[in-house]
Amino acid sequence: MLSSYIRLVNCEYPLEPGFVPTDLETPQIPFCAPPGDPKRLLRARAARAAEELFDRAQHAGLCLYGVSGYRSYERQAEICSQSSSGYVAPPGCSEHQTGLALDVSCPDLKFELEESFAETEEGRFLASYGPMYGFILRYPKGKEKMTGYAWEPWHIRYVTKTLALYLSLTDLTLEEYHSL
Ligand code: DAL
Ligand code: ZN
Repeated sequence: MLSSYIRLVNCEYPLEPGFVPTDLETPQIPFCAPPGDPKRLLRARAARAAEELFDRAQHAGLCLYGVSGYRSYERQAEICSQSSSGYVAPPGCSEHQTGLALDVSCPDLKFELEESFAETEEGRFLASYGPMYGFILRYPKGKEKMTGYAWEPWHIRYVTKTLALYLSLTDLTLEEYHSL
């Protein structure tokens, strides 16, 4: 259903523990995780869109790498209990459970997820070209109060091409869109 692609997931609107997308696939993109790792999974439409976006980057001479896609409720609970960083959502509150979110990095950053990614060619490419393929930067700088999360220039979320272009042109977050 189209509406599921634009679903808002955050601490105010969490996912049920048993929510598992039914159409998870492995996109054909460079990934840090080994083959078979569930973090390589994305929902089918997001997987195709990521392939096109990563292809475009490659043609521009850039090297995007997938770091983390799908995460189960249980996996998120595990990561959350092991981390004290402000970047990890509590279980149920993470978009990674939707299979529509992907953390991206590049070899220059040794595949780390850091704010300095925003200054790399790859980070700039992701911000500019992501929306044309249906992805938004979900946690922008300056919108921390709206999203409830710290700035994450590496975290993209598939929301369909129409909505991604709309949000990037209007500079709205998914929270702001859903409260319109
Ligand atoms: N890093 C984001 C907020 C997550 O854990 O989903
Ligand atoms: Zn993320």
